[in-house]
Amino acid sequence: MEKGYTVITGATGGLGGAFTRLCFKENEPLVLLGRSEEKLAALKGELLAERSNAEVLTYAVDLTNAGSRDEFMQDFALKNGKIKRLINVAGVDTQKGFTLYTQEKIVFQTRVNFEAAVCLCKFALDHAAEGLEIINVSSISGSCPMPYFAIYSASKRALTDFSLALREEVKKDGVKVTAVTPGGIPTREDVKEQIKGQGLWGKLTAKSPETVARASLKGVKKNKAVVVPGFFNKAMTVFTKLLPRGIKLKFIAKRWSKISKDAF
Ligand SMILES: NC(=O)c1ccc[n+]([C@@H]2O[C@H](COP(=O)([O-])OP(=O)(O)OC[C@H]3O[C@@H](n4cnc5c(N)ncnc54)[C@H](OP(=O)(O)O)[C@@H]3O)[C@@H](O)[C@H]2O)c1
Repeated sequence: MEKGYTVITGATGGLGGAFTRLCFKENEPLVLLGRSEEKLAALKGELLAERSNAEVLTYAVDLTNAGSRDEFMQDFALKNGKIKRLINVAGVDTQKGFTLYTQEKIVFQTRVNFEAAVCLCKFALDHAAEGLEIINVSSISGSCPMPYFAIYSASKRALTDFSLALREEVKKDGVKVTAVTPGGIPTREDVKEQIKGQGLWGKLTAKSPETVARASLKGVKKNKAVVVPGFFNKAMTVFTKLLPRGIKLKFIAKRWSKISKDAF
């Protein structure tokens, strides 16, 4: 594969950090995106302390903002850099009844989860190194509509479907596109609490950020369309497809109406 950068969005988060550390171990030149200059500087400092001559570029980008995304894209393009891997990790898992949302929050969640990922796919294709790999981190929550998690599940479903369609379009160019649909990943404290609240099911289905990142990188190498990390998550994906929609939605609405989270 031609030398090029690995671009990771959401690098300052739990799963993004795991991708970052794995790719760093492989000596890949990195372009890390996050919202916070401070978090990016801390992450870069941690990496450079391990290998001071490593190439690590950081960009504080608000992915909801087309202007902010453009600034990053223009700066990267000026360096004549090529992208060998794009990992769209940034995502917003706000969870509450739809009527409780503000207009601002609706726009925020849909833009980060879908619009930004799609725009970065186009950018990566325009600046692709040979054998470009794209990983879009979706969610098992996109497997079926989820009342009380409606925007998240719909935006993740859109991202999975987009990845599958894009994959078909670009395979003739040697580009690999993989969607990843994880179950619970213990990253932020509120997510850890939520997984704990699911009892045995949470224990069986949750996978560490490192496990999910490793499975995703392996999956895209093998040119898999979709990676579902973990046996029980694979089983649940199949099972939910078989259940009648009415039953599914009733069950989910009952369970999810009790949960609310808004970390962003
Ligand atoms: N954790 C789970 O159980 C789970 C399960 C399935 C799928 N996923 C998906 O996995 C991905 C990572 O989840 P995580 O648990 O690692 O989340 P996280 O720790 O909260 O990290 C989210 C990342 O997205 C970034 N981000 C949020 N809004 C942004 C914006 N407007 N512009 C730029 N960056 C923005 C955050 O930046 P800041 O550091 O500045 O906040 C952070 O780096 C998400 O796409 C999520 O939907 C997670």
